[in-house]
Amino acid sequence: MSDANLAAATAQIEAVRRGDKPAPMIRSFFDEPTNTATHVVHDPATLEAAVIDSVLDYEAASGRTSHSTAQQVVDYARGHGLNVVWQLETHAHADHLSAAPWLQEQLGGKLAIGAGIVVVQDVFGKIFNAGTAFQRDGSQFDRLFNDGDRFSIGGIEAIALHVPGHTPADMAYVIGDVAFVGDTMFMPDYGTARADFPGGDARELYRSIRRLLSLPRETKLFLCHDYKAPGRDYYAWETTVGAERDGNLHVHDGVSENDFVAMRTSRDATLSLPKLIMPSVQVNMRGGHLPEAEDNGVQYIKIPVNRL
Ligand SMILES: [Fe+2]
Repeated sequence: MSDANLAAATAQIEAVRRGDKPAPMIRSFFDEPTNTATHVVHDPATLEAAVIDSVLDYEAASGRTSHSTAQQVVDYARGHGLNVVWQLETHAHADHLSAAPWLQEQLGGKLAIGAGIVVVQDVFGKIFNAGTAFQRDGSQFDRLFNDGDRFSIGGIEAIALHVPGHTPADMAYVIGDVAFVGDTMFMPDYGTARADFPGGDARELYRSIRRLLSLPRETKLFLCHDYKAPGRDYYAWETTVGAERDGNLHVHDGVSENDFVAMRTSRDATLSLPKLIMPSVQVNMRGGHLPEAEDNGVQYIKIPVNRL
């Protein structure tokens, strides 16, 4: 099967590796409470930058939000004189709230996510009975990416790839010679993301992962999460296509689609929902905005009982 968009991503990676095109600089920030890695990518020549998968701190018991995690991104960006042009989400996260709107206020940048967000908005709009005021057309975002869409960060070229399975809207962003793969894969010793959220699909996830793993072997992959792993007592969020192909616990070379689907399905059946799924989904489906205030001026997070 020919895959022109994957071929374009491969050509882009090779051009950077040859030195024909500039390579991005990357700094990652890890939020231990949600096991999330936020990545800041910039072009060293122009100092244009993108923030990928930011985190808004949320204290579930009190319903309080704060910005100490996102503030680290602000401090880093200001300290290096970065001009943030993109706030990128790999998907609508179910385990942490996005800080993108707050970061836009602080640093700027267009907010972008995969075009499949409209499917996620429809599913969760119904589950949370969000009402007609909640637009399910992706209009909370500045740009919706389709597979193969190109964008840039200063002189660094980038291409968006649609990699559904974990959710219907997952995107990977190939920026220069590196790929930000969101929740498709985790570190080789931990495996892969669950595929049992509404709209998730283990078979699609396998195909998306194998697609990413057909990028050049040396391609660096940056992940959205890490949970350590047996025998590894430190957090890690960077690996390579080759390391995943050789050693990923769930999808190394040789694991068939059917074997993966059987493993993923039985494993997902044992997993409890993420602690912050209720606030995360309600906020992230709105592009990181809390629900509208009620007539007393207070914003509320809902919990559907016996529904998820
Ligand atoms: Fe996720």
